Amino acid sequence: MSGSTLEIKDLHVEIEGKEILKGVNLTIKGGEFHAVMGPNGTGKSTLASAVMGHPTYEVTKGEILMDGENVLEMEVDERAKAGLFLAMQYPSEISGVTTSDFLRSSINAHREEGDEIPLMKFIKEMDEAMDYLDMDKNMAQRYLNEGFSGGEKKRNEILQLMLLKPQIGILDEIDSGLDIDALKVVSKGINKLRSESFGCLIITHYQRLLNYVTPDYVHVMMQGRIVKSGGPELVERLEDQGYDWIKQELGIEDVTVGKDA
Ligand SMILES: Nc1ncnc2c1ncn2[C@@H]1O[C@H](COP(=O)(O)OP(=O)(O)O)[C@@H](O)[C@H]1O
Ligand SMILES: [Mg+2]
Repeated sequence: MSGSTLEIKDLHVEIEGKEILKGVNLTIKGGEFHAVMGPNGTGKSTLASAVMGHPTYEVTKGEILMDGENVLEMEVDERAKAGLFLAMQYPSEISGVTTSDFLRSSINAHREEGDEIPLMKFIKEMDEAMDYLDMDKNMAQRYLNEGFSGGEKKRNEILQLMLLKPQIGILDEIDSGLDIDALKVVSKGINKLRSESFGCLIITHYQRLLNYVTPDYVHVMMQGRIVKSGGPELVERLEDQGYDWIKQELGIEDVTVGKDA
């Protein structure tokens, strides 16, 4: 199966009347890994939330298309069903729902009624993925994210990604707060997903994850726009020189969004 294409065209997004995204253009195809980097407060998480249909984020202009279908007209669950997945910067805790139950119902939500994943097959897939991610099997029976450490939460997001097999994955700061071992495991999980049928948007503040997961394309976000795009060599330059040279090149003083509005 070949992959899907997510197209973001001239996207403008407001939060409570304040414009945060000011015209983002980005196309992600199956098989491609894109990184969006940028300092804090430049609109990266807003981009992820808007694509997934978070109600706080109002799209005032532009388009989001998945294989030509209008994503903006889809409800949140329809976006997931269309093959979009978001690993959030701050995953929420769900008391009373075990990780295992949550995963199984998420998988079944993507399948037709009467075609639910057989329990044994699910358990086998989950066990294999947990082994791959060096996760403690007891986590499956714990309530989702409740009392999970930062590293456990992030591994759990990758576990979902591996089991749900979305067409397009958006990973928002999946590397934040990870020690080096967890970072390597999370990277291993992301790299395992690389295939023609999977496109990925990796949002990160730092280059360190990108030392393990090599992006095909790198974009830098400032002031609610993508201000620079390039290949993996851009990661190295940002590692060596930071963001100042881009600010100077473009005459940007304050990289964040919204303060002027
Ligand atoms: N839910 C929200 N409510 C109010 N303001 C928000 C919300 N989410 C983001 N913002 C504002 O939007 C701007 C961009 O934030 P964000 O998209 O989180 O940036 P980044 O992920 O690049 O750090 C910031 O000024 C932030 O305060
Ligand atoms: Mg963010």
